[in-house]
Amino acid sequence: MTELLDYPEGATPLDPDEVEGLRFSHVSTHGELDQLEQANIVDGMAWLKRQKSPDVLSEGFACDLHKQLFGKVWKWAGSFRKTEKNIGVDPIQIAIQLRQLLDDARFWIENDTYPPKELAARFHHKLVYIHPFSNGNGRHGRIMADALLTKLMGEPEIDWAGGYKLENMNERRDQYIAALRAADGHDYTGLLDFVGA
Ligand SMILES: Nc1ncnc2c1ncn2[C@@H]1O[C@H](COP(=O)(O)OP(=O)(O)O)[C@@H](O)[C@H]1O
Ligand SMILES: [Mg+2]
Repeated sequence: MTELLDYPEGATPLDPDEVEGLRFSHVSTHGELDQLEQANIVDGMAWLKRQKSPDVLSEGFACDLHKQLFGKVWKWAGSFRKTEKNIGVDPIQIAIQLRQLLDDARFWIENDTYPPKELAARFHHKLVYIHPFSNGNGRHGRIMADALLTKLMGEPEIDWAGGYKLENMNERRDQYIAALRAADGHDYTGLLDFVGA
């Protein structure tokens, strides 16, 4: 179990009380956990596909999606994190800042503020910057950005992985994390390049 408290570069370390929320007691390695999460994500994606006109830009949808993606593995899936992390806003700020982001994104879409891929990339960055959940923020945030493109804008999704496995350590992930860090400093050029905008 303690091995689960280690984490790759650019990921959120889990607190011991969050590891307590694991629905499978036999899991002891990240490899096993990744497989369980991946199976859950497949189910969550099937759920998303069935949602014909979801209210993507609502707190309810963001939380429901996280629960569908991770709720069979983690008891706290779909609920905002309660502890501070190495990434993310103060937990008491999550609901407020998420609300602001959802409102901003609605405005951007209505006013064609950015080309679609740029809009989705900026939305994704702000969402993972807020870091609403204890874990799964990267995967949830990429699927949220794709849902915004496909369900609200009639646009194709982003090729995030680009032939790699973005969850693992590789040059694509290095580029992704570096681009997000630059975006933290308001430089979006790397992230726009990354998503092909
Ligand atoms: N400096 C950063 N600024 C904003 N977001 C970041 C930064 N570093 C990492 N992230 C995001 O946080 C994610 C890792 O958080 P985590 O909750 O562990 O998600 P997951 O479990 O899906 O990988 C990364 O995939 C990335 O999306
Ligand atoms: Mg993680």
